[in-house]
Amino acid sequence: MADSLARPHLAHVEAYAPGKPAEELERELGIAHAIKLASNENPLGPSPRAVAAIHAAAGDAHRYADTTAFTLRAKLAALHEVTPGELAFGHGSNELIDLLCRVFAGPSDHAVIGTPSFVCYRLCLRVADVPTTEVPLDRGLFWNVDKLLAAVRPNTKLLFLDNPNNPTSTHLGRSDLSRLLSSLPAHVVPVIDEAYVHFADAADYTSALSLRALSPNLIVLRTFSKAFGLAALRVGYAVGPAALLSYLPRAGVPFNVNGLAQAAALAALDDREHVARGVAQNAHERSRLHAGLSAQGLSVAPSQANFLCVQFGPDARAIHAALLRLGVIVRPIPDLPEHLRISVGLPAENDRLLAALREVRA
Ligand SMILES: Cc1ncc(COP(=O)(O)O)c(C=O)c1O
Repeated sequence: MADSLARPHLAHVEAYAPGKPAEELERELGIAHAIKLASNENPLGPSPRAVAAIHAAAGDAHRYADTTAFTLRAKLAALHEVTPGELAFGHGSNELIDLLCRVFAGPSDHAVIGTPSFVCYRLCLRVADVPTTEVPLDRGLFWNVDKLLAAVRPNTKLLFLDNPNNPTSTHLGRSDLSRLLSSLPAHVVPVIDEAYVHFADAADYTSALSLRALSPNLIVLRTFSKAFGLAALRVGYAVGPAALLSYLPRAGVPFNVNGLAQAAALAALDDREHVARGVAQNAHERSRLHAGLSAQGLSVAPSQANFLCVQFGPDARAIHAALLRLGVIVRPIPDLPEHLRISVGLPAENDRLLAALREVRA
């Protein structure tokens, strides 16, 4: 019955599968002290200033939030040197991805994404019933601009590219990104998702925000979930042309970024040292983890993010399951079944992962 009531195209859409929470694994196995290296979160947690701001804002929880996010908007507009209208806010960047799909494309349009790339592009495009071409990354790991451009059709409306890319951790360099943006026809809205921008330190990495002049429709996505450590509060934003972004609130729900989240995001922006500490620790631990995994004979993709994409071969799923039994949660990658995605954790967590891997692969 339910199948005939729901819209038919949703029958084949699967709900987003999040990383398993540590408490869930502890309950299932009756163990304590599980560690989660599965959702690319900030292992340092939020800035203490953000926590204080949440406490301070809690007394206003009976009031609806400012749905325009006036103060946060003004602060981010100054930071990115754009007008307030060139920003839009979402309940996490995830909501913005959903809105972009529903606002700019429909069943008679077309979208281009990479495979593997952030799984929500595929999910949201399916929900919006947008025919999509999935362009394989080279060797499963590296963006190929020529293949992306070749997939564009006369009715292509959206192209999603995350840079650095989740789940591969790899990036697209400045010259390739420039070529992509300047080669796309005017009927395409390129969406460059920079969830992991803070962790990218390659000499040829550049934010698409510095390339706005190349692409009149460019929309760049950012989130407070990663370097700012506010994943639970759900704040993301888009930077792009005001005329395009003005459509997002029309299709969305009001009050999508709650008052506590706005207060926390504002305070987090002020605590640059906290972000810098997290970025520095990530860089150090990322290379230590990379070296430790390589020393175990594993092939690790060059990471520009806060996670690693590691090739385990046909045993990847079995290794994932064995790690769970030791209380270590990493992430399988449905589009790369021989790889696992491992978030960079605290030093002790990374040590535990390396030791657990040695044990399960012995
Ligand atoms: C590439 C990419 N974009 C967006 C998101 C979603 O972020 P948010 O928490 O802001 O919805 C993620 C989360 O993992 C991601 O990997």
